[in-house]
Amino acid sequence: MRLIAHAKVNWALSVLGRRDDGYHELDMLMQSVELGDSLEIRLAEELTLTLHGGPRVPSGDGNLVLRAARRLREAAGVAQGARITMKKRIPVGAGLGGGSADAAAILLGLNALWNLHMGWQDLRALARSLGSDIPFCMVGGLRRVRGTGEQLEALPCGAPFHLVIVQPCAGLSTPKVFAAYDALAVRPRNPDIEAAVAALAQGDPAALAQAMGNALTPASVPIRPQIAMAAQTLEHFGALRAEMTGSGSAVVGLFANAQDADFAWRQCIALWPKSYLTRTTCLLYTSDAA
Ligand code: C5P
Repeated sequence: MRLIAHAKVNWALSVLGRRDDGYHELDMLMQSVELGDSLEIRLAEELTLTLHGGPRVPSGDGNLVLRAARRLREAAGVAQGARITMKKRIPVGAGLGGGSADAAAILLGLNALWNLHMGWQDLRALARSLGSDIPFCMVGGLRRVRGTGEQLEALPCGAPFHLVIVQPCAGLSTPKVFAAYDALAVRPRNPDIEAAVAALAQGDPAALAQAMGNALTPASVPIRPQIAMAAQTLEHFGALRAEMTGSGSAVVGLFANAQDADFAWRQCIALWPKSYLTRTTCLLYTSDAA
């Protein structure tokens, strides 16, 4: 079985408050993009993972893919194995949900390959216990995501938007960014999610550019000032708007059309090797023909 696990971007991220357990109540608009990691899963006696690319990804027990596979095996009470080969393309610590997408693909892939017939509710609970963004990554598309990632509302997914995604610096740790957010003297303004929903429904990139925003940006930029510089550069090269995704450190530039995005990508790749020309997608897992 060959799968592509798609990255996600945040069109909007609002922080509504901090809960007693330390997690933050969020209201987000998330969408899958074509950029993705390739996974190949084969039945085997042992559970193993071979990684290509992504030197910063742990390949041992700390890898979310192996943790997800083991948790699924425990939950289903089976002892089967799989040989997993993964080619990483999604940058790590970027706010693009790379690890979450890989884990989601493994949960769905092994559920099928091992004939577990585990239902959506059980899979979603397992996904949630492994990471906040994994439930979204299991369904993908365009969604409003609330709570701490478990409340998913599907939105109609229209024509693709053209993007350039840049990670201009080292990755960021999500807990560190939320801690920096809590320490801010002034609460950042939340984006207008309703306006972003309307812009997405109309497929209007100019209106979306006005509405998009991320309340975590003021927490991440002091840790990685390159984020602000990359956003300015993307806008200089023609993005209608550029904004950080998730807790960073990647920045997403939204373009009016494919030509504008292609031009900006050629400029950005000369500055930052982790620059990606991509589009939003409504598809979840595409088989990897490569
Ligand atoms: O669930 P996940 O592993 O993605 O979260 C990593 C950390 O990010 C959490 O332990 C928490 O510190 C922070 N977080 C948060 N509020 C969220 C999601 C994550 O504070 N909604």
